[in-house]
Amino acid sequence: MIVIRGATTIPKDDKEEIRKAVAELLGQIANKNTLLKDEIVSIVFSSTSDIHSYYPAKAAREAGYEGCALFSSQEPDIEGGLPLCIRVMIFVEKNLDPRHVYLRGAKGLRKDVAQKINIAIDGPAGSGKSTVAKAIARDYKILYLDTGAMYRACALKALEEGADIDDERQVVDALRDLKLDIEYEDGVQHTLLDGADVSETIREPRVSMAASTVSKHASVRMRMAEKQREIASKMSCVLDGRDIGTFVLPDADFKFFLTASPEVRAKRRYDELTAKGYSVDFAELKEEIVKRDEQDANRALAPLKQAEDAVLVDTSEMTVEEVVAELKKRMQERI
Ligand code: DC
Repeated sequence: MIVIRGATTIPKDDKEEIRKAVAELLGQIANKNTLLKDEIVSIVFSSTSDIHSYYPAKAAREAGYEGCALFSSQEPDIEGGLPLCIRVMIFVEKNLDPRHVYLRGAKGLRKDVAQKINIAIDGPAGSGKSTVAKAIARDYKILYLDTGAMYRACALKALEEGADIDDERQVVDALRDLKLDIEYEDGVQHTLLDGADVSETIREPRVSMAASTVSKHASVRMRMAEKQREIASKMSCVLDGRDIGTFVLPDADFKFFLTASPEVRAKRRYDELTAKGYSVDFAELKEEIVKRDEQDANRALAPLKQAEDAVLVDTSEMTVEEVVAELKKRMQERI
């Protein structure tokens, strides 16, 4: 006898939601394990104490699981537990390697379970990575690491030291005593260069291209990637950049590659910068973005590239909310 486990959540305690969630959970378990209904001996459900509207076992019967023993029970109310959650154990008379199924945030994304997840979001400038990554980090209560900010800080330091940023040797010298710290205040990342908060300065247009140039140098990238891996190894986080899914964290749990047309990306950057009071020329900005993408995509080490196993999302016609919802949906489908 084999046991397959699974869990799901419902948005509210409601009969229809329970029926829908149970049918989806059992359907996916059957699919992933290529299971026939008559191979199931029994199904045992337990639901959290905030679910009263319907028996999951009854919902299972209605979904066509009639030939097996069905049982529902209620879990004690555990502080910090995932709310509105239905768990299941399916006993099967078949020799298989069980594939457990966790849907709708029932695993990994629950704060009471000490399971680390790393989400990689890569893409060109202005594709919406940082806005989306921030929203996901906030919703999942995990850390957001803006890796571009690290290259920007390196570029700022190199510029301040008067280095020729195209020259790797000069950049390495300028960054010899680099003291780069990433700190968080109310979940917001602050980039500290030699103890000073440079979070705003590194956004200046003059730093953008310099960051791209500095990031071409292998010694700079190896140093930054090591720092990024160290942070990601300690806690759940969502990292945005150019090479997270391909180079920094090739084993990230979830990988996304966001794109958008150059026109849309330039417009986003334009709005962002003008809102901050910078006076920028749209055509120039667009040209700079295209040039920067080209440089990022053509460098020798860890270029801007979609990882083979990354989900591609074209955000040109999507709102931020739509992109966030799409990414969450993709992740929840897989857990
Ligand atoms: O994401 P951003 O615009 O802040 O990044 C600035 C530059 O840093 C970008 O043009 C290329 C470089 N970068 C990189 O090479 N790898 C990363 N993971 C992040 C940024």
